[in-house]
Amino acid sequence: MTSKYWYGKTAVVTGASSGIGASVALKLANAGITVIGLARRVELIEELNNQITGEGKIHAYCCDLSDESNILEAFRWIQEKFTTFQILICNAGMVKANFLSESPSADVKQLYDLNIFATTICLREGLRIMRSTPNLKYHIIIMNR
Ligand SMILES: NC(=O)c1ccc[n+]([C@@H]2O[C@H](COP(=O)([O-])OP(=O)(O)OC[C@H]3O[C@@H](n4cnc5c(N)ncnc54)[C@H](OP(=O)(O)O)[C@@H]3O)[C@@H](O)[C@H]2O)c1
Repeated sequence: MTSKYWYGKTAVVTGASSGIGASVALKLANAGITVIGLARRVELIEELNNQITGEGKIHAYCCDLSDESNILEAFRWIQEKFTTFQILICNAGMVKANFLSESPSADVKQLYDLNIFATTICLREGLRIMRSTPNLKYHIIIMNR
């Protein structure tokens, strides 16, 4: 992330409040990128700003990704405030440690709603915004589940 290529760009990171998403958000901000972090625990995302050593900044937006209307609202807010972005990292996800044969339907649905459906809606909304900017070169990363 030392390349000047990334400097001044804007990134959306889902699940930026902990784990991999928080680390990625920090790395990007340290490379001079403006980061928009989505998660439910916004206070954890906001606190990441205290650890930034580079020139980027992290903006937090409270979003429960298992609720489609929350996702749509979040991307509307992003477009209004930032117009567009060049990097989308779909990281939010959960793991249920059961074998499928032992998994209650409610767990399977919760997993599907967040890991598959929410990721797909984020992708669709992200693509819609990024593609509305002519000639924008963009990057999408989806964390493996
Ligand atoms: N760590 C691993 O070894 C590993 C291995 C394979 C794949 N992965 C994948 O990598 C990704 C990150 O893993 P991790 O270990 O860093 O997970 P983590 O520490 O549990 O973090 C998950 C992130 O997703 C967010 N999230 C969960 N449910 C959400 C919801 N309903 N709405 C909005 N945000 C939600 C959490 O934020 P809030 O709780 O604040 O909302 C949190 O920021 C996941 O997709 C995971 O499946 C991880």
